[in-house]
Amino acid sequence: MRRKLVVGNWKMVGTLARNKVLLEGVLAGVRDLRNADCAVCVPFPYLAQAQSLLQGSSIGWGAQNLSQHAEGAYTGEVCAGMLVDFGCKYAIVGHSERRNLYQESDEVVAAKFDTALKAGLQPILCVGETLAEREAGVTDEVVARQLDAVLNRAGVKALAKAVVAYEPVWAIGTGKTASPDQAQAVHAFIRQRVAKLDGQVAQGLCILYGGSVKAANAVELFSMPDIDGGLIGGASLIAEDFVAICRAGQK
Ligand code: 13P
Repeated sequence: MRRKLVVGNWKMVGTLARNKVLLEGVLAGVRDLRNADCAVCVPFPYLAQAQSLLQGSSIGWGAQNLSQHAEGAYTGEVCAGMLVDFGCKYAIVGHSERRNLYQESDEVVAAKFDTALKAGLQPILCVGETLAEREAGVTDEVVARQLDAVLNRAGVKALAKAVVAYEPVWAIGTGKTASPDQAQAVHAFIRQRVAKLDGQVAQGLCILYGGSVKAANAVELFSMPDIDGGLIGGASLIAEDFVAICRAGQK
């Protein structure tokens, strides 16, 4: 049976003081959590703080992005090796905000995935359709294209050391959650697509759902057979809410 994973994506939110209160609250709240994993993906400048507060605990930490390049003259960028230096376990790649606001193509996302994996990080690959794409009936097509870019570059075995997050763009930060059935259908589609290449990798693949997950809807979403946890935005900024979602992972 796959273990549930709940990851907070703080996005561009936080201060040293606020993060400390939040992380201490989460630490206290998940201390006795045994049957689910949780992690936070924080802004780059706060990785050192996450490392110092979370080291030795059961909570993992990671980044929200990284460069596809290993090192060099890329002003303003952060490479995988730097994330490893700060103890990161995870790196989110291909979040829809990066795809849409910073024009990251499927190919760039695949390169970032590959770079993260080669450095020993666990990439969390985000995929998902916009509202217009859902309404046009091309959700599967979009998700397949995003997934295939990574499969073609890194190979199916790479997914044994990665996480996939299905995040319908229309559900992000909108309060509009995909219904458990809607999410389950896409999760099953992703798993089947991977299974065509490698049944064992597909069976073990952790597929998170993201998009307006709250304490109130987490149990229902996480009870679906192909939903293995969540990638949480807004609700990960409130310790009590994030802890409740982590706890939903162990039900
Ligand atoms: P919300 O939970 O705020 O909808 O954000 C989801 C998300 O984008 C996580 O990566």
